[in-house]
Amino acid sequence: MKVLVAGGAGYIGSVVTAALVQADHEAVVLDDLSTGHRDAVPDGVSFVESSLSDVSKVLTRDAGFDAVIHLAAKSLVGESEQRPELYWRENVGGAMDLLDAMRAADVRRIVFSSSSATYGNPEVVPIEEDARTEPTSVYGATKLTIDHMLTGEARVHGLAAVSLRYFNAAGAAYGLGERHATETHLIPIALQVVTGAREKLSVYGTDYPTPDGTCIRDYIHVADLAAAHLLTLEVVQPGEHRIYNLGSGSGYSVRDVVAAVREVTGHPVPVEDGPRRPGDPAKLVASSARIAQDVGWAARHGLTDMVSDAYEVLTARLLN
Ligand SMILES: NC(=O)c1ccc[n+]([C@@H]2O[C@H](COP(=O)([O-])OP(=O)(O)OC[C@H]3O[C@@H](n4cnc5c(N)ncnc54)[C@H](O)[C@@H]3O)[C@@H](O)[C@H]2O)c1
Repeated sequence: MKVLVAGGAGYIGSVVTAALVQADHEAVVLDDLSTGHRDAVPDGVSFVESSLSDVSKVLTRDAGFDAVIHLAAKSLVGESEQRPELYWRENVGGAMDLLDAMRAADVRRIVFSSSSATYGNPEVVPIEEDARTEPTSVYGATKLTIDHMLTGEARVHGLAAVSLRYFNAAGAAYGLGERHATETHLIPIALQVVTGAREKLSVYGTDYPTPDGTCIRDYIHVADLAAAHLLTLEVVQPGEHRIYNLGSGSGYSVRDVVAAVREVTGHPVPVEDGPRRPGDPAKLVASSARIAQDVGWAARHGLTDMVSDAYEVLTARLLN
């Protein structure tokens, strides 16, 4: 297939692009480089520096695209609460521009990066896809809105659509790892402590109703995420909008992650225990039973793989 990867210069998008190439698909990356990196786009892949607002110039009828993988988004929860208008315009406005361009060019297949943030604070864990969706951030609300847009587009215009609701992406693959200017994710932050870029790791809340008192999250290896994109891209049918959670089904606490980082790297990771952050649920763990049953996907990598792969790519980058 010829696939347009919107957001393919970002962390997850670059790994998805590399996986497409390895599977003999043709990938074209569109990215405005607002948080992505040109050098993350795999060699030999066409790159267009463009915002989603100009996607119709790339996604033309003549260009011969078969599908889109849409990862381009603003994705900082805190920023979305400070600048909601930016998130509605970039995420929802961008998705509208993309769907308009796809309709005009007759490209009828899409896989979209949705998020566990669509669920908000779950009543039941593990979280299934038919759980109540009540996002607690503007970011989560934009993702849920786009999910609703895809449902309508599939029903009315026959789009073949998949929303993949990732939990916490982690790890590295194809030599590509996480490189966010504003880092909010636990594993890269812990690794910054290891490499000396940060003094200590702040633990927000040690009195949650969890075995060690710290929050539990579901971490999923970026290579497992990429595999799910390729699998679902092929099987979704016109008129369907499939929604799948992507997690490992195992939750790890903040202390578990810190212990794994210490073990893998052999370095101390000083922590500073502090109060809870408002709005952080105690435990978020996915049920990925639906995608396992429908397309045979399963997470193949555990926490140690995620930490060691991320560490390997980070140290290689620091040495270069
Ligand atoms: N990282 C996670 O744990 C996680 C979890 C759930 C969902 N997601 C979603 O997965 C996707 C990828 O996340 P990531 O961690 O790789 O983020 P990222 O910031 O590394 O990648 C996003 C990419 O999209 C590009 N982009 C943003 N807005 C754009 C626009 N309007 N036009 C063109 N390009 C634009 C950025 O430059 C960047 O390269 C995002 O949609 C994010 O919301 C991520």
